[in-house]
Amino acid sequence: MSFYSVLKHLHISLVSLSIALFVLRFFWRWTQSPHLQSRWVKLTPHLIDSLLLLSAIGMLIQVWGNPFALPWLRYKIILLCAYIALGSVALKRAQNRRGQALAFTFALLCLAAMVTLAMYKPALF
Ligand code: HEM
Repeated sequence: MSFYSVLKHLHISLVSLSIALFVLRFFWRWTQSPHLQSRWVKLTPHLIDSLLLLSAIGMLIQVWGNPFALPWLRYKIILLCAYIALGSVALKRAQNRRGQALAFTFALLCLAAMVTLAMYKPALF
């Protein structure tokens, strides 16, 4: 297996972990669970997301080069920024359940769009 394949498998595994943790944290926020205050729940997502970004940077260095030169990667980065902002609203900033649910739904849509862009790399933009 090439180093690129290792990075890509790592990237996909970290993506799955990151999404699972995001959904779990939202569930705990929704049910006002004390788990949300645990130290590991506060730290682990940062660790996973940093490794996720590192695996992406590794793949860019190995094969893809400047991410802004490719439409699918450019839109993926824009969606990543939107996902981070929406995730923070859903998990922290939203003042009521409607705001939490809306932000969570749009964050999931951003994730779905990122996965679709990564899988099909459309050139139609
Ligand atoms: C939460 C954020 C992210 C999600 C959900 C995500 C999702 C994915 C998925 C599912 C794949 C595998 C696609 C396939 O099966 O072929 C992938 C590959 C890839 N991602 Fe990400 N990714 C994220 C962040 C990033 C970032 C920030 C970058 C870089 C700017 C990036 C760059 C790449 C590259 C270069 C590939 C390899 C494409 C290939 O070799 O086919 N990803 N991503």
